[in-house]
Amino acid sequence: MAQALNTIAQTLDLKSDFPALAQTVNGKPVVYLDSAASAQKPQAVIDAMDHVMQKHYANVHRGVYSFSAETSAAFEAARGKVAKFINAGSEKEIVFTRNATEAINLVASCFGQSLKEGDEIIISELEHHANIVPWYFLKQQRGVELKIVPVKADRSLDMEAFEKLLGPKTKMVAITQMSNVLGTIVDVAKIVEKAHAVGAKVLIDGSQAIVHFDVDVQALGCDFYVFTGHKLYGPTGIGVLYGRYAELDALPPYQGGGEMIEHVAFDAITYKEPPIRFEAGTPAIVEAIGLGAAIDYLNGIDRAAVHAREMGIFHAAEKLLAGIDGVTVYSTAPERASIISFSVDKIHPHDVATVFDQLGIAVRTGHHCAQPLMKTLGVTGTVRASFALYNAMEDAEKLGKAVQTAKRLFA
Ligand code: ALA
Repeated sequence: MAQALNTIAQTLDLKSDFPALAQTVNGKPVVYLDSAASAQKPQAVIDAMDHVMQKHYANVHRGVYSFSAETSAAFEAARGKVAKFINAGSEKEIVFTRNATEAINLVASCFGQSLKEGDEIIISELEHHANIVPWYFLKQQRGVELKIVPVKADRSLDMEAFEKLLGPKTKMVAITQMSNVLGTIVDVAKIVEKAHAVGAKVLIDGSQAIVHFDVDVQALGCDFYVFTGHKLYGPTGIGVLYGRYAELDALPPYQGGGEMIEHVAFDAITYKEPPIRFEAGTPAIVEAIGLGAAIDYLNGIDRAAVHAREMGIFHAAEKLLAGIDGVTVYSTAPERASIISFSVDKIHPHDVATVFDQLGIAVRTGHHCAQPLMKTLGVTGTVRASFALYNAMEDAEKLGKAVQTAKRLFA
């Protein structure tokens, strides 16, 4: 029995799959607590990308020779893996983008063309700049009104206020599923239900949530869902826009160029169907295949058990921080996960992070690309520790000790 438990613990300890984490930083074993900014990569992802480039690299959809056929098949297989991972109705609903930011810009730009002055878009105080600025462009360009759902004192989203903001003029609700600053989890299924009742479309920014939770876009019923590859243990340069097929098909093209066209003449151009309509130019081929490998990796582990372990470590870290005099923890929503924003009295967040770095600990500091939320919290920045599947209980303990060290150094 003891041996069986030991085996389970080992199976859940996935750190050794991530080569970067075997190193030391400033003479200390690395403690990586900045996965909400970008996650480390498992060897399987590095190998898959290496394999394409060493064995059969070529452009996709453009060559009749074997290298191109093989790479095209791997690229399209990655699209299929993404579709299955989020339970899309079909792989035609998966558009590859550069990142989540580009996916939101795509929807804002293309869907935005149907909007007129006085139409309303609802976003929230929890949003990352990527889910604010593209909609602000529409306010400037088309006179669209931006309505903002506030955050409650407990740092959850104010659902009552959201319902009051909804109305016949609401055309789009664009909301995060999990705050990159606070880890607050939003009941996006409810958002979809209420928004659809007034005929509005819904875009969900799943950049943080998809890393920690199973996502089923059909069950959520959302119109658009976006996320990025590099937070999901995949490479940078690849993101995903899921759109219900009818919604994607109703959109005009985004960028113009090769591949997205059916026929080009100087006086008339026709476009391909989704998703290719939105993928002008050579796509991020190797990166898409890398994202497919990250999904294979996640499918190969017991995600529920890994998540439960991660939450145990996260809650232990919260408890340690809350027990230290002079530490303010901002991540207090009843529904939250994996991200702790905090400050240490009289020490600037950058100074805290500099002390941490000397101890081998990586965290993010600053406004976390969420300046409106900083204003709500009444701060200019925080220290943010974010947990991922490769973190261990000793990482939480080292975080607590590092705060004590910072306090001593700045006393
Ligand atoms: N969106 C990323 C973060 O929260 C970069 O750090």
